Amino acid sequence: MENVVTGYLSAEGHVDRLVSELKGVVAVHDRLVFTSCPIQKVYWAQNIWLNPVVLNIASITDAARQLKAIQGSWALFPTGLHRRALLIAEKLPRVPAPELVFPASPPRSPLGSWTLLDTNVLVASSQCTSTLPNGEVLFREDKVGPPSRAYLKLWEAWTVMGERPQADEFCIDAGGSPGGWCWAIQKLGAHVLSVDRSPLDKKIACLPGVEFQKGSAFSLQPEDFDQVDWLFSDVICYPEKLYDWARRWVDSGVCRKMICTIKFQGEYDSKIVKKFAGIPNSRVVHLYNNKNELTWMFKTETSEPPEQSDRDTAF
Ligand SMILES: C[S@@+](CC[C@H](N)C(=O)[O-])C[C@H]1O[C@@H](n2cnc3c(N)ncnc32)[C@H](O)[C@@H]1O
Repeated sequence: MENVVTGYLSAEGHVDRLVSELKGVVAVHDRLVFTSCPIQKVYWAQNIWLNPVVLNIASITDAARQLKAIQGSWALFPTGLHRRALLIAEKLPRVPAPELVFPASPPRSPLGSWTLLDTNVLVASSQCTSTLPNGEVLFREDKVGPPSRAYLKLWEAWTVMGERPQADEFCIDAGGSPGGWCWAIQKLGAHVLSVDRSPLDKKIACLPGVEFQKGSAFSLQPEDFDQVDWLFSDVICYPEKLYDWARRWVDSGVCRKMICTIKFQGEYDSKIVKKFAGIPNSRVVHLYNNKNELTWMFKTETSEPPEQSDRDTAF
């Protein structure tokens, strides 16, 4: 493989979207896409390999020796030759995927990534955008409290933003049922107004600080509120509809921070993603815990704006 400058590991199931975002694609191995161009702004990558090099290896021992000569910490992304790749990995220092306990910061130490392309050919990148193995953000789950696993993407979004609701802040949770996000917000001591066409799970509806309003989230308008600390939306709707509504909230100045999932049901439209990303003081990412959706995050200028860069993967 020649001219490899950058590698992108796509979010699971979204390699086609990632490829369509990239210029200079030279090879695709499973979910790993190599390009001949410097880093590009993409939305569907889970990890970016910043300095991939092709290593010719004589044996399993030689592969491990060459990797260790570059650095100590490596994560394997298997693209084939699984048994041989695992035998190489066994000769490297073990880097288990950390289980994050919310609230948690991502690990600081750099982690390289590698894959075995052929019996004697390996690609390795000592620098990656994520410090987690293959960008996988695994939280220790609460199997008792929340009624859905959707809270994991909110935990991840707060971790990426480096902020979360504080005690007594006022939050709106649009499309909040059955109440996973509501549970996560309430647990922080904030007040939540949850709005959904379907009811909240009973054990969430009765929590202190939780209020429920039945109906469409889009009937909530900024004029109806003096100040909202956080606006959350996990509503299943067309991205354009969400954009128009979110834009009203941004322009009103009533809400300081927002996190919305942009869901894609039919054909994927990259134009609407760019519209969201173009809202000042905001960024769009695919979180590890997102599925067929992206997450848009907004912070007003008075709070620190989230940094948008070409290196954006969630962690
Ligand atoms: C993915 S679920 C939300 C899961 C929730 N965040 C949680 O943590 O449990 C999407 C929700 O959007 C709601 N929904 C769809 N259209 C809506 C609308 N126009 N207004 C309010 N809620 C809506 C659905 O009823 C559904 O409960």
